[in-house]
Amino acid sequence: MCGIVGYTGKNQAAPILLDGLSKLEYRGYDSAGMAVFDGKTLRSEKTPGRLNALVEMTHDGKLLPGTLGIGHTRWATHGKPTRANAHPHFNAAGTVAVVHNGIIENYLDIRQRMEKKGFAFKSDTDTETLAVMLDYYYTGDPVETIIKVLHRVTGSYALGIIFADHPGELYAARKDSPLIVGKGKDGNYIASDVPAILKYTRDVYYIENEEIAKITEKDIVFFNIDAEEIKPELHTVEWDVNAADKGGYEFYMMKEMSEQPKVLRNTCEPRMKKGSIAFEELSKDADIIKKASKIHIVACGSAYHAGMTGKYVIEGMARIPVEVELASEFRYRDPVYTDDEIVIAVSQSGETADTLAAVKEAKAHGVPVWAIVNATGSSMTREADRTLYTFAGPEISVATTKAYSAQIAVFYMLAILFAKERGQLDANEEKSYVEDLKRLPEQVELLLGNKERVQKFANRYISARDVYYIGRGLDYAIALEASLKLKEISYVHAEAYAAGELKHGTISLIEKNTLVTAIVTQEALYDKTISNIVEVKSRGAFVMAVTNVGHSEIEENADFVVYIPTTNKYFANSLAIIPLQLFAYYVSAGKGYDVDHPRNLAKSVTVE
Ligand code: F6R
Repeated sequence: MCGIVGYTGKNQAAPILLDGLSKLEYRGYDSAGMAVFDGKTLRSEKTPGRLNALVEMTHDGKLLPGTLGIGHTRWATHGKPTRANAHPHFNAAGTVAVVHNGIIENYLDIRQRMEKKGFAFKSDTDTETLAVMLDYYYTGDPVETIIKVLHRVTGSYALGIIFADHPGELYAARKDSPLIVGKGKDGNYIASDVPAILKYTRDVYYIENEEIAKITEKDIVFFNIDAEEIKPELHTVEWDVNAADKGGYEFYMMKEMSEQPKVLRNTCEPRMKKGSIAFEELSKDADIIKKASKIHIVACGSAYHAGMTGKYVIEGMARIPVEVELASEFRYRDPVYTDDEIVIAVSQSGETADTLAAVKEAKAHGVPVWAIVNATGSSMTREADRTLYTFAGPEISVATTKAYSAQIAVFYMLAILFAKERGQLDANEEKSYVEDLKRLPEQVELLLGNKERVQKFANRYISARDVYYIGRGLDYAIALEASLKLKEISYVHAEAYAAGELKHGTISLIEKNTLVTAIVTQEALYDKTISNIVEVKSRGAFVMAVTNVGHSEIEENADFVVYIPTTNKYFANSLAIIPLQLFAYYVSAGKGYDVDHPRNLAKSVTVE
């Protein structure tokens, strides 16, 4: 979704804005623009298309001189991706510039009201209503004016604002859309996300809902919606500066897939102590863990698929009923809670609007909410009662890989914790699971090391039109994620089916050479899924199988097999997903697509 960068300081703003926006490209966008003020003239350029077009139009920013600026990449919601709809938006006199992420829900009412007062609009966007209102309500005091406007809007916003009669001053405000303020040496910054400013500073403030910041080269002052000064805490971001770079890989997705061994170590090691699992974050929740009658997992997309894995593992190990639900459904369903339930939200970004709303809905009912989140300081970490971080580092590619792997590892550890605390697991069993957990990173490395074999296979299937993924139990959870990976980056129609469900309809779609990928890691279900493989084979399917090492007899029925190293039945997903991520990657790259920026998708889905 939209990306915002702002700067005020000693240096030229435009190159900093362009550089910051390039670090936010992963969020998905279809137009870009910026406004820069040199103390006299507020200049702006904007364009539909990629950021490169803006770089060229402005001669790397040289055509927009000045040391105060705001930049924006827009993911169209209201109005097409045109120059007129691109941000920044201005008042009629061109003295107020605004960039916005989020949705102003009552923008039509405001627009009509402002039109009656004689204001004209140049775009179809909701954002322009803010620029017009900032003009109409302007008192000469920017903070006072911003507050007046914010009182009149409903919806979500992260805002960067410049007033031409306040040189050197950058204003920011936020509600339900992410925005951080960075404190630098040669100036200060605003950004939608840390990678945009990591090169310049690691010291950040997280602006809370309905807070406003006044930022100059030397000072950052925060206000609440009642114009009272407040003092938020300054945080230091631990991320490595190079973490947001491609590090020599052609695409971030390959870099991030390759980081999975490290990510698994970083996520698991702090929670493994002497053969035992402990979450410091949950040290006060022993009672909740012991008494839990049911767990609701809420999430979207791949995080939802991680939740599916979580369900099978927690139910299997700890014998607690788990319901996994799409956050967009959960939030409007008026769910029924009974005593002692827990909600676990899962999100890489910590900003997904539906998951965030589901968290709020559960909290409003007094249910304890834990969040498995990757992005430090994101909105969800502030809404949830507990945050269990996945230490995956910044994930830039739109298609998640390493964050997903970290999420399922957190579920394994939670399952062990619940099982142990509820007497379902003895110390020896726990130790054996911890040993398996420790082995996962090198096993993932092994699978990554065989990527050329998957690449060759992907090249053969590059023009596949439909691909089916089948599996049972935990293998079905992987099928869901594998099929999403393929469709989102390769634009190939892919569907995941519980293997036993195929013959209830979908098998009619299988014809000669249809690619069916069978995931067969669950020993107890092995023969059952083999029967399903035989069924599709006899209808002409070409079968790729992912199974445990030692099952070479599968080659009698499968045409291409990837073997995964031995682990226990619960952790196999961490291994089986690797060749399937690689397959999706190579199909997309082989077709010449921009793997990291699939069409129509945004990394951080901050609107409903
Ligand atoms: C798919 C993907 C998305 C996200 C989903 C939730 O590769 O990345 O399906 O998993 O949009 O995003 P987060 O985890 O940020 O809440």
